[in-house]
Amino acid sequence: MADILESLMKKKVIVTGGTGYIGSHTAVELITGGFEVVIIDNLYNSDISVLEGIRAITGITPKFYDNDLCDRKRLDEIFTAEGKVDAIIHFAAYKAVGESVRKPLEYYRNNLVSLMNILEMMESHNSHALVFSSSCTVYGQPDTLPVTEASPVREAASPYGYTKQAGEIIIRDTMASRPSHNAVSLRYFNPIGAHPTAFIGELPRGVPENLVPYITQTAIGLREELKVFGTDYDTPDGSCIRDYLHVVDLAKAHVAALKRMLDGGSKANYEVFNLGMGKGVSVLEAIAAFEKVSGVKLNYSITGRRAGDIEKIWADPSLANRELGWMAEITIEEAMETAWRWENKLKNKGS
Ligand code: WQD
Repeated sequence: MADILESLMKKKVIVTGGTGYIGSHTAVELITGGFEVVIIDNLYNSDISVLEGIRAITGITPKFYDNDLCDRKRLDEIFTAEGKVDAIIHFAAYKAVGESVRKPLEYYRNNLVSLMNILEMMESHNSHALVFSSSCTVYGQPDTLPVTEASPVREAASPYGYTKQAGEIIIRDTMASRPSHNAVSLRYFNPIGAHPTAFIGELPRGVPENLVPYITQTAIGLREELKVFGTDYDTPDGSCIRDYLHVVDLAKAHVAALKRMLDGGSKANYEVFNLGMGKGVSVLEAIAAFEKVSGVKLNYSITGRRAGDIEKIWADPSLANRELGWMAEITIEEAMETAWRWENKLKNKGS
């Protein structure tokens, strides 16, 4: 009886893209925080085995629907079947910057139609709280650093970046017409690392676009060498600077933002928060951090700049620190250690 009561008391959260990198780590923190998690994912950029990883960590396998969020009819059936949904965390989107340049229409259709379907489900199924996965890419190259939420949104460097900018505008304007609803956009800086248990982590499809999985795949012998895309930038060591934060810290920020909305702590019904360490780290410094914790001398060479890269960006996370009661704490060394542990786990699983 107590179990039934406990289950009735749990707040239910639909996590779209919940078998993805950030989505799966957030599902773990939500379950650990006492929420009931329901995942909707079409497995375009993830694997069903992630559910087993979530269960291995939490003891609970979240309910899972294999569904494309652009399929509005099926999405409506899922929400009807789920009954009361207290909140939605919307991760599901295509996210490869380079691919978005090659396939812009697919990115605009997928990322924006899925979001608009979710916003319609909120209205038709009386679900009043939304957390949206946004990105620091909306800032382009800021004029001043660190970048705050008041820093201007600038010309996106890719269709992917535009889908995040457009997504924020669509949510802002929708919330303006729905005073009883609440939404937050979380602007991620650069998420890295894996869960310390190594039961879940990043599963890049094919050749990784992002720095850290490319580093670990090079170190373990899957890639010949890492190419450092330019050391002729106006930075201390010439390589680009980013704000790297651990994916578990990032996941915890989602739970904090959700609880604040559900507990009536919002100061407006649409808010934006930067999620970063507040510290800039260069590509060469990131490589040095990896070498230090792994003991592996990384094979890399310096090549030309990558099109679309900005030179330097790092967050001023003080608004999230204050309003969400959240702070990123895991250092880049610790993050690299979890990334390396995960890469070794993948190799052993493959063996
Ligand atoms: C980081 C730095 C590269 C690979 C993107 C998206 C952002 C978010 C995170 C989704 C850059 C350098 C990389 C390599 C390298 N994605 N690099 N060699 O581009 O800052 O951000 O991913 O939400 O929205 O824009 O991350 O990891 O690709 O690159 O030298 O093989 O590492 O030039 O300076 P980025 P990244």
